[in-house]
Amino acid sequence: MVKRNYIVGIDVGTAEVRVGLGEPRPDGTVNIVGLGLSPSDGVRKGVIVDLDKTVESIVAAVEEAERMAGFKIESAYLGLKGLNMELINNRGVVAVTAEDREIREDDVERVMHAAKVVALPMDREIVDIIPREYLVDGFEGIRDPVGMLGVRLEVDALVVSSLITSLHNLLRCVNRAGITINGLILQAMANSEVYLSPDERDLGVFLIDIGSGTTEIALFQHGKLQKLAVAPIGGDHITTDLAAGLRINHHRAEELKKEYGSALQSLAESEPQIEIKTVGSNELRLVSERELTSFIEPRVQEILQIIREEMIKMGWPYLPPAGVVLHGGVSSMKGIVEISRQLLESDQIRVAEFEMVGIQNPAYSTVVGLLYYVQRYNPRMFIQERGRPTKKRGPGLWQRIRDWMTDIVD
Ligand SMILES: Nc1ncnc2c1ncn2[C@@H]1O[C@H](COP(=O)(O)OP(=O)(O)OP(=O)(O)O)[C@@H](O)[C@H]1O
Ligand SMILES: [Mg+2]
Repeated sequence: MVKRNYIVGIDVGTAEVRVGLGEPRPDGTVNIVGLGLSPSDGVRKGVIVDLDKTVESIVAAVEEAERMAGFKIESAYLGLKGLNMELINNRGVVAVTAEDREIREDDVERVMHAAKVVALPMDREIVDIIPREYLVDGFEGIRDPVGMLGVRLEVDALVVSSLITSLHNLLRCVNRAGITINGLILQAMANSEVYLSPDERDLGVFLIDIGSGTTEIALFQHGKLQKLAVAPIGGDHITTDLAAGLRINHHRAEELKKEYGSALQSLAESEPQIEIKTVGSNELRLVSERELTSFIEPRVQEILQIIREEMIKMGWPYLPPAGVVLHGGVSSMKGIVEISRQLLESDQIRVAEFEMVGIQNPAYSTVVGLLYYVQRYNPRMFIQERGRPTKKRGPGLWQRIRDWMTDIVD
């Protein structure tokens, strides 16, 4: 049985694929009715390197969510991490068409179309257009112009483009998993829905997602996403360093890192009490948390240095008023706030808290954020262009995606 008035979000991460299924409530919240998660075997550093494995991971996560919800998923919104993304500010202008000069939905759609006219290199494609503000007859700062009177409607928009190859591989995997894509949403936008308050977004804040293969740095100010950068480095590099340093396999290193790892040696126990077996030998050896951390701390430092450099490139050698909010798997590591405060030279750093009734695992935060984003903002031009319902899973869906991608670029 297929139910239609549900929103589905998919996050294809380097460590896991997650799927969330929610029912929009009239009060603007979302009732989560299905969740699914599966290890992501075909993704490295945020990029798909094995299509078949990625399709399998997506299918497994989708099926888990379907079992929980009790019905089939046909289409979904896809979260995009900002790897290979570029943001361009652009302005669109149109004349208001109605005789009574009242601005209607279709004027807003036309002005958004006008804003997507930007010169892009051949290897790039527009994936999203986020309105920053509208202007009616030159008056700035309007969030929703529908219903206002005017003759000239302008939009100040953020045009998001992606490298075609990496994006198409992702779309192809989701399509081959039998899912039609309703729309593409920047994960930073989705995460800001669950982790940032409107005040923080107004004052200025960095939302930083330290994942498995990538670290994303998003700057919000004046209520909007202003800048976005992604570095291909994350928790998986820490695991690799630990495995090499202790000469243990990757799987065991991952376990030890999560259970005993710390980002700061000064916070780690010096007593050797963790048993390890080095590769190629059957001998057991005891190591201390501090020894573990000696292989972890340098990589965490490197990640934070990269974050710092990106902040400076974005024009922030010091932190914005609302500081830094950390999230993503690595933010669960002991000592992460302390070392971040040292290296970013500020106390205004916190780890985001994911509080959603009934959901324990913060790994679902991005898909939950996607559902809230869709519910709250109804990203209209993309839904209307892309969201035609399909009858069943199967071939032909990719063609639809191609059609709307062409639509967007035209
Ligand atoms: N308690 C913990 N201590 C240290 N690291 C942790 C902890 N919990 C999770 N991690 C690490 O966080 C990473 C996974 O983070 P996350 O789930 O945000 O990644 P992802 O979304 O799959 O990847 P990406 O966003 O980079 O594509 C892994 O490297 C994992 O080892
Ligand atoms: Mg992620």
